[in-house]
Amino acid sequence: MADLSVNICGVDFKNPVIPASGVFGYGREYEELYPLSKLGGIATKGTTLHRRNGNLSPRIAETPSGMLNSVGLQNPGIDYFISTELPNLLKKDTVILANFAGSTVEECVEAAEKLDDTDVHMLELNISCPNVKQGGAAFGTSCEMAAEVTSRVRKATKKPLVVKLSPNVTSIAEIAKAVEAAGADAVSLINTLLGMRIDVNTCRPVLKNNVGGMSGPAVFPIAVRMVWQTANAVKIPVIGMGGVSSGRDAIELMMAGASAVQVGAAVFTDPFAPVKIIEEMNDFLDSKGISSIRDIIGSVKAW
Ligand code: FUM
Repeated sequence: MADLSVNICGVDFKNPVIPASGVFGYGREYEELYPLSKLGGIATKGTTLHRRNGNLSPRIAETPSGMLNSVGLQNPGIDYFISTELPNLLKKDTVILANFAGSTVEECVEAAEKLDDTDVHMLELNISCPNVKQGGAAFGTSCEMAAEVTSRVRKATKKPLVVKLSPNVTSIAEIAKAVEAAGADAVSLINTLLGMRIDVNTCRPVLKNNVGGMSGPAVFPIAVRMVWQTANAVKIPVIGMGGVSSGRDAIELMMAGASAVQVGAAVFTDPFAPVKIIEEMNDFLDSKGISSIRDIIGSVKAW
């Protein structure tokens, strides 16, 4: 057995595999299938200060080797998350990253203050949701706004702060540098790529929101490129995600510079995907005679 453990911002992960925010809810359905303690961590569905019903349906569409979603941050609100879901998750012997977002900077700050009063291990500030009219990607597509919201949230919490970045920008590395300077302890990327499909029989967009975020294997090479560019631009850890569906993909993203890997859309086709990915990563390391996953991080030999 290889050593799969990593340490990110002082937090120990038994392995680097984390179901991504939005695909794993609060773990309730998955704990019926396998012990959540097998996972390195869990990024919870994005919580907001107030309950949100999300966008109108249809809000999911299949694409070649991927999917579009326009969920719109549906969630029961932060007080429910803290009182009802978080206590259950904290019993699972895995790292819990509380993903949160806000329509305004003030809402992000207030949410961070509430989470700071809990035992959650890490915060993941989502400045990259493409499916909401206020906040979300509006914060994450300008260096100034990304820095402003990060710096205000930084002051509101002592917890390790991960900032989740949008790929819908000219240079994700520049946004990463801006949030690093503003106090982020780590960045996670990539959130979904803005996409659109049209039903040619009705001339209507497939999604009621017209546009949505694309994820799945089709976006994986973009994720590898952006993780590599970002890891070369910042000193803080990078958590990689975007179309990871096998242990080989996870290894590739770590070679590009990720210290851990989130698994998103793959969980919808196979709920066991995160567990299989952990096993496949171990098998890869054993087959190469590599004793620690940490030796893989950033090991790509670029031309
Ligand atoms: O629409 C959603 O709830 C997705 C959020 C995100 O991609 O950050």
